[in-house]
Amino acid sequence: MIQEKIRMGMIGGGKNAFIGAIHRIAAHMDGLIELCCGALSSNPETAKASGRDLFLPENRNYGSYKEMIEAESRLPQHIRMQFVSIVTPNFAHFEPAMLALDHGFHVLIDKPITFTLEEAKLLERKVKETGLQLCLTHTYSGYPMVKQARQMVKEGQFGTIRKICVEYPQGWLSSASEKEGNQQAAWRTDPAKSGKSGCMGDIGTHAAQLAEYISDLQISRICADLNWVVKDRLLDDDGNVLLKFNNGANGILMASQIAAGEENALSIKIYGEKGGLEWHQEEPNTLKVKWLDAPAQLYRTGHPYLSSFAKHNSRTPAGHPEGYLEAFANIYRNFVLTLSTLHIGGSPSPEMLDFPTAADGVRGMAFIENVVASAHSDQKWHDFKI
Ligand SMILES: NC(=O)c1ccc[n+]([C@@H]2O[C@H](COP(=O)([O-])OP(=O)(O)OC[C@H]3O[C@@H](n4cnc5c(N)ncnc54)[C@H](O)[C@@H]3O)[C@@H](O)[C@H]2O)c1
Repeated sequence: MIQEKIRMGMIGGGKNAFIGAIHRIAAHMDGLIELCCGALSSNPETAKASGRDLFLPENRNYGSYKEMIEAESRLPQHIRMQFVSIVTPNFAHFEPAMLALDHGFHVLIDKPITFTLEEAKLLERKVKETGLQLCLTHTYSGYPMVKQARQMVKEGQFGTIRKICVEYPQGWLSSASEKEGNQQAAWRTDPAKSGKSGCMGDIGTHAAQLAEYISDLQISRICADLNWVVKDRLLDDDGNVLLKFNNGANGILMASQIAAGEENALSIKIYGEKGGLEWHQEEPNTLKVKWLDAPAQLYRTGHPYLSSFAKHNSRTPAGHPEGYLEAFANIYRNFVLTLSTLHIGGSPSPEMLDFPTAADGVRGMAFIENVVASAHSDQKWHDFKI
C-alpha cells in the first residue's frame, strides 16, 4: 500500500539526548520512514554536529527548527519533509508543533503534548483546522499485549469494569541528580521547563493514558496527593491519586520517581464483574487474565489466537521477545500507514488509526492540571475539568 518512504524531520534528539535516538530506531524499524532533515539541538553548533553524526545532508542539517520548517516548506513537494518528530523538553513542544502545522506538516510529538492545558487545546484546534494529523507517543499503548487487553475489555469479556489499579514506580530521581549534571533530571525538575508537575507530568500521564486506553473509560473525578521527597526539589517526585471513572468504576494511580531500586515498573490491573487482567511493562509479552469461575490464563505475543490489533502490532513469532523499541515503532508505523493511506485518498483501517492523538494530549494536560489543583486543595474529590 505504501508507495514510497515517508520523509521525516526531527527537532531535538541530538548528542546526549535520550528519547530522540529511540524515536529514530522506532521510525526506521519497518523501512517505511527516512530521516531527511533535522534541527537536533537548541544549540546550533551541537545541532549541526549531531546531524553530521547521522549523515544528514549538509543543506538540510539545520541550526534551528524555525529555519528548518521555513526552508523545508520552500522545497518541492516531492522532496520536503512530510512530518516532523518533536523530541524536545516539554517547554519546547508547542511552538514548533504550531509552526509545523501552519506550514502544512503533520506532527509527531512526545508527551506531555505541551507545557500547559491551554496550549494543548490550541494545538488540538489547529490540528482540526488544518486537517493534518498529530500523533502523540504514549509508548505503552503501543505494546501488542496492551492492544489485546483493550480488545478483550471492549468485547465485554470481563463485564462492566469496576476497578483499575495502575502504578508507575521509578527510582532514578531518588537523589538530587539534577544537581550532579544529569541533563534529563535537570529540566524535568525545573518548573520553567517541565511544567506544573514533575513526576505526575513525566510518568503519571503515561499511567493515566494507559488506564483510559485499556479500559476505554475516562477519568471523571480525582483526589490527589503529591509529594516533594528529595530536599529542595521544586516539583513533585512522587504521588498517589484516587480515581473515579465515567462508568462509576474506581481506581488508584501511583507514580513515583523516588522508588529506590525500581527501573521502569509500570503495571496495571483491571477488574470487571467476571474477571480481570494484569500487565507489567517489564514483562510485556505476557498478559495475565483471571476469571471469577475458571483458572487464570496467560496470553502471549505472536499467537494466532490474539486479536487483530495485537497481531497487527507484532513482528516476531511467539517466544521471540518484543519490547520497548517495537512498541515505539508500532506507534510510528500506524501513524505513517495512516498518512500514506490518506495521501492516496484511501481510508485507514481501525488498526492503522490506533495511535494517540491531540485529544489524548489534551486529556494528559488536564490530568496534570487537575492533579496539581487537587493536591493543593483540602477538598476531597475534584471533578476532572478540561
Ligand atoms: N514516550 C516516552 O516514553 C518518553 C520517554 C522519555 C522522554 N519523553 C519525552 O521526550 C521529550 C524529551 O525528553 P528527553 O529525555 O529525550 O530530553 P533530553 O534532554 O535528553 O533531550 C532533549 C533534546 O531537545 C533539544 N532541544 C531543546 N530545545 C530545543 C529547540 N528549541 N530546538 C531543537 N532542539 C531542542 C536538546 O538540545 C536535546 O537534544 C520530553 O517531552 C519527554 O517528556 C518521552
